[in-house]
Amino acid sequence: MTFNYQNIKQGKILKKFERIFIFLLLILSNVYLSAADKNMNYQPYLQSVSEHSAIIMVESGSSDNIIIEYGENQTNLNQSSQTYLYKQCVDNKSSFMHRIKLTGLKSNSQYYYHIKNHTNNNAPFSFRTFVSTGTDFDFVCAGDCRSGTKPHSNIAKLIKSYSPLLCMYSGDLCYNGSYSSWIDEFFLPDEMKIIESAPFYNSIGNHEAGHNNTEIFTEAPESLSGHWDYYSFDCGDVHFLVLSTETTIDPGSKQYMFAKTDLENTKKKWKFVMFHKPAYCAGGHGEDKTMIEVSKKIFVPNKVDCVLTGHSHFYQRNEVNGIKHLVIGGGGAPLYNPKNNNYTKVTKKDYHFANFEVKSDKIQVTVINDKNEKIDQFEIKK
Ligand SMILES: [Fe+2]
Ligand SMILES: [Fe+2]
Repeated sequence: MTFNYQNIKQGKILKKFERIFIFLLLILSNVYLSAADKNMNYQPYLQSVSEHSAIIMVESGSSDNIIIEYGENQTNLNQSSQTYLYKQCVDNKSSFMHRIKLTGLKSNSQYYYHIKNHTNNNAPFSFRTFVSTGTDFDFVCAGDCRSGTKPHSNIAKLIKSYSPLLCMYSGDLCYNGSYSSWIDEFFLPDEMKIIESAPFYNSIGNHEAGHNNTEIFTEAPESLSGHWDYYSFDCGDVHFLVLSTETTIDPGSKQYMFAKTDLENTKKKWKFVMFHKPAYCAGGHGEDKTMIEVSKKIFVPNKVDCVLTGHSHFYQRNEVNGIKHLVIGGGGAPLYNPKNNNYTKVTKKDYHFANFEVKSDKIQVTVINDKNEKIDQFEIKK
């Protein structure tokens, strides 16, 4: 090669191309990284745990079976189970939500698990099975995180520090139930840290109701309802009934009859009901006539202890006919101004969640804001 003007010019052009190439590479790697950050693929979470079983949910880009290896000793995951069912996301055909059921587990026991043949397996994940009758446990309730990802992450970090056995979520977990709103808003890294170790149970909110992905991302416990959006389950001495205010629940309807029979038949000491739109609420979206009727006709005669709801973005403790009706709607979405009614005991405009310590003679409830300050505390007793 001779050293002449033409070669110098070519060299300069090549260097320019080199610079453009490197620049494009940087942009592409950034795009890839941010997409990877938001990707939930192979980040497992729990649904429908019981004393003797658990369902692990795993998203992958294909329908090929996912294998979970698990066991009681974290250095010896000597059992395995694989996909028994997958569901494809409605608006993202390259997202397959796998369900893997672990069975034959011991109650009140710690289990470790990982996804076989996946690089995500640095240390195994772990969870605890549900406790049997007569055993104390803690659970949390939060709701309406929606697109408020910053306060949601703060609340999630605090929830994780309480190590709940299970999470009751009162709906509006994302803005519209689309694939991207679930991934970008609900399945945040801080949220994943909770739900890889403890199952969440959602009472569907009006925001995620308009999209079938909610059914894809949740797997309700098997119950006599035969429905994914209203169901019941037990843990320790507590019976949980989860209802949908997005499906008809008028007296005489299928859901109403299920709720009535369910509450009449449970033998559990404590009865909790959760649904999204509160029966009794001062300020925000206010009261719900149908749920007031359901409360009077079913909850009161069956001695329900506590009702968990969301929808109005603040905290409120209302007490009507001996039942505590809590509005726990400060999970992240913009806060509303609460009001007072003659049934209102405490009300706070604050991001928050509630922790429930279930003991043999009482349930201690502590409501905590996003600064880890106590904003309410009370006991539920018989
Ligand atoms: Fe909401
Ligand atoms: Fe709502």
